[in-house]
Amino acid sequence: MFYVFPRPEDIAHYVSIQIGQRFIRNNKVVLGLATSSTMKPVYAQLIEFYRQRPCSLDHVHCFNLDEYIGLKAEHPQSYAAYMQKHLYQHLPFVNDQLYLPCGQHWPTEAQCLEISKKIKSLGGIDLQLLGIGTNGHIGFNEPGTSFHSRTHVVTLSEQTRKDNSRFFTDKNEMPTHAVTLGLKDISEAKEVYLLATGKQKAPIMAQLQQAEITETLPASILKKHPNAFFFVDKDAAEQLDPAQCTDYRFLLERSKSS
Ligand code: F6R
Repeated sequence: MFYVFPRPEDIAHYVSIQIGQRFIRNNKVVLGLATSSTMKPVYAQLIEFYRQRPCSLDHVHCFNLDEYIGLKAEHPQSYAAYMQKHLYQHLPFVNDQLYLPCGQHWPTEAQCLEISKKIKSLGGIDLQLLGIGTNGHIGFNEPGTSFHSRTHVVTLSEQTRKDNSRFFTDKNEMPTHAVTLGLKDISEAKEVYLLATGKQKAPIMAQLQQAEITETLPASILKKHPNAFFFVDKDAAEQLDPAQCTDYRFLLERSKSS
């Protein structure tokens, strides 16, 4: 189901509360986390939530979706550096609660699969956050990726390289490859929130709403997930069929009554 929120901050507020409540509940929780521009307001509000309601986070495990290959963890555009800057340095996590695919060296197949196995050994991902690429990728699973894929190395598409080179001052540094959780890993999460904000996401969200479930549109795998929620702001919702959308206030009512 597609839920329409007025602004990106409203999505971030809702999502940060959902995660924050899992912090407070103190039961083991495995989070699947994404990076990039869509997630920044979510993490900013989650940090604020934690500041107002500090608690132990010993029960929280975080897996990152993906990482570029060929960038050192200290590179400002690595996803390791992103997570450190936007979330981890602000919360009292210790290293063995945080799992980030390592992209410094080309990972072997066995090293990739180790990540998928680790997720399973912790009981699977409870809540997976996702952004979406303008070509429908989730994680870095580009169009055509098998729905049965586990953590693997991908060749980034021209579209993704074009979109993401905006983050690199030296465009030549934009990596050609990445390591990502597979679509099978993602779709096994118990609950999934896919967030899309901004006008540039309007065409792909409309395509996703209308699409069959097909490997040419990786995010469409979520349409058969019983607990996948698509959160869009007004701009990203511009081309959606309103008859297939729900107002975000319905979600607020639902979480008040649960
Ligand atoms: C990042 C990731 C990617 C991004 C997607 C959208 O960890 O998994 O799938 O979520 O490329 O990026 P933004 O949010 O910059 O539009």
